[in-house]
Amino acid sequence: MTDPSPAASPAPPPAAPRPSDAPPPAQPRGELTVRTIAMPSDTNANGDIFGGWVLSQMDQAGGIAGVERAQGRVVTIAVEAMTFIRPVKVGDVLCVYTEVEAIGRTSMKIHIEAWARRFMTHHREKVTDATFTFVAIDDDGRPRPIPREAPGTVPDAPRS
Ligand SMILES: CC(C)(COP(=O)(O)OP(=O)(O)OC[C@H]1O[C@@H](n2cnc3c(N)ncnc32)[C@H](O)[C@@H]1OP(=O)(O)O)[C@@H](O)C(=O)NCCC(=O)NCCS
Repeated sequence: MTDPSPAASPAPPPAAPRPSDAPPPAQPRGELTVRTIAMPSDTNANGDIFGGWVLSQMDQAGGIAGVERAQGRVVTIAVEAMTFIRPVKVGDVLCVYTEVEAIGRTSMKIHIEAWARRFMTHHREKVTDATFTFVAIDDDGRPRPIPREAPGTVPDAPRS
């Protein structure tokens, strides 16, 4: 006896995603604090940019944000674990974003992201992120309380 039901037709292929279905591109978190170009002098033996150079730019950006929030000198006391997820190449523009996440009595945690804008393009990718802790210090290098209120203006204070 033959089966009277129609043969099952194969499932249609999934529709190609429309532009409106595509997830929005990832966006940096925080305020753009440092923007600089990766130079040949910043490379390792592979020709890629040193991780330490990127870390240094992040530390400087965190220091700028920290001085602004603490209204005076700050020092880096800790960096949480970080992973370099993309390389940085010569000619890329490194953009470092900062966001003060938490403020203690004398210390603050600052979330810092490094993004590479690829050479001669508008394409940017996140390279790494980390949470840095900075401590506000007085003229003798001792911890000092961070003002409760965020300043309205950017001070011109030195950073050690
Ligand atoms: C930063 C420094 C002044 C702190 O001195 P300290 O006597 O350890 O100070 P305290 O123990 O009072 O801690 C100060 C703050 O740091 C925090 N802290 C201390 N150790 C920490 C650590 N390992 N991770 C995160 N935060 C830490 C404390 O919780 C405290 O925060 P709070 O006041 O908001 O609660 C001192 O450690 C120092 O000079 N370190 C060298 C910094 C430096 O030179 N950085 C550049 C390296 S090249």
